[in-house]
Amino acid sequence: MKLLHVDSSILGPGSVSRHLSAAIVATQQALHPDTEVVRRDLATAPLGHLSGPHLAAGQGVVPESAELQQDVTDGQAALDEFLAADIVVIGAPMYNFAIPSQLKAWIDRLAVAGRTFRYTESGPEGLAGDKTVIIASSRGSFYGAETPIAFLDHQETYLRGIFGFFGVTDIRFIRAEGVALGEPQRQQAIAGAETEIRALAA
Ligand SMILES: Cc1cc2nc3c(=O)[nH]c(=O)nc-3n(C[C@H](O)[C@H](O)[C@H](O)COP(=O)(O)O)c2cc1C
Repeated sequence: MKLLHVDSSILGPGSVSRHLSAAIVATQQALHPDTEVVRRDLATAPLGHLSGPHLAAGQGVVPESAELQQDVTDGQAALDEFLAADIVVIGAPMYNFAIPSQLKAWIDRLAVAGRTFRYTESGPEGLAGDKTVIIASSRGSFYGAETPIAFLDHQETYLRGIFGFFGVTDIRFIRAEGVALGEPQRQQAIAGAETEIRALAA
């Protein structure tokens, strides 16, 4: 069993999503002791933004600089790592109603035609449906369907959409919401998410 553990919060040890993603990984390891964990921290080791030269490199054009060549290689390694994983655990905070740009830069390296999706005569087809994606979602406010700001959730909706586009059907969210609304709510949200994580193991 191969597990890819990805984090993207810029808040270091104080991060809620990092705390939850680590707890999810620990639970999976307890459940499957033979789990091989691969770690990718997008805040401490970010991938560069996708650019024209990156796309050209994908078409076989040799990158002009050693720096770009390295980034292209890193991006390909990130894609291979994602495709090889049986379980992908992602710490994904909401930043400005969406995901951290570091996480988006990683996803931009995964979205490669012929690897994670392809276009067919009947429409797009996902090619990476053989895995489970578990997302540790943290956000300052509440975005449930009953709230007036539900339409501002471009974090979970985007993640569900893109991994669905890659063919993943088993996408789970462990959510801590309202963490910016005072310490009692923050603690309650984290405790609730921890309970959900324990239930994942059941
Ligand atoms: C740069 C930044 C932008 C944020 N934007 C939002 C936002 O748009 N909506 C929201 O509800 N919370 C927002 N928050 C609060 C975070 O979602 C919340 O603190 C969450 O715990 C962050 O996850 P982390 O602790 O793993 O970094 C933002 C926090 C930061 C640091």
